[in-house]
Amino acid sequence: MSASSVFKIIAVDGGAATGKSSTSRAIAERLGLMHVDTGAHYRTLAYALLNAGADTESADLIPALLASLKLNTTIIGRSALLSINGHVPTDAKIRSPEVNSNVSKFAAIEAVREFLFNYQRSQADVAREHPGFNGLIMEGRDIGSIIFPNAEHRFFLFADEATRAARRVKDGQTDSIAERDKRDSQRKTAPLVCPEGAIRVDTGPLSLDAVVDHICGLITRA
Ligand code: DC
Repeated sequence: MSASSVFKIIAVDGGAATGKSSTSRAIAERLGLMHVDTGAHYRTLAYALLNAGADTESADLIPALLASLKLNTTIIGRSALLSINGHVPTDAKIRSPEVNSNVSKFAAIEAVREFLFNYQRSQADVAREHPGFNGLIMEGRDIGSIIFPNAEHRFFLFADEATRAARRVKDGQTDSIAERDKRDSQRKTAPLVCPEGAIRVDTGPLSLDAVVDHICGLITRA
């Protein structure tokens, strides 16, 4: 088997608007990987919980609501999307100001993280069993630390505040990234950290193409 045909897992972590999604999507295209955005998992779940009347202040009521939600995967192109009870909500729905301001509060609730843990790990098998994928690239906050600590490649993306705020404005989104990062880094369970041994990449001064070239080079030369 040649090195490029060995199934590999690539973990990409970092704060909000550090370029994880665009970078991971482009790497998936270039290297023939399945792409999973776990931020979208937390957003989809937050959207479903808000619709079911959940409130981040009443965490004890959440396990009963979670029990009514069935998780599945829909593959579109190279992206594996989370469906809940057979439904994949649109991007506009999971990136609304309401979801933006609640998602990291739901993500700090232990029952919510436990609910997604096995599902997220199972995505490696989805990629292995689906024809045409050489591996999996998964992005989030705890991928290299908790979900796939033994991934073949682990990267941690970061960028200066001004660049990140400008990226959100360009996306047309209302989002308090500093506040979310603070909550994501300070929570008890699976906080946002640079996993030990992960390669740090400063995306602030680089174009998307330059970040993708750099990371693909590190993956293919390894
Ligand atoms: O990547 P994003 O900004 O769309 O993520 C939305 C929120 O989801 C983020 O503020 C924290 C949470 N999240 C998490 O706790 N763990 C992950 N692996 C991915 C996202």
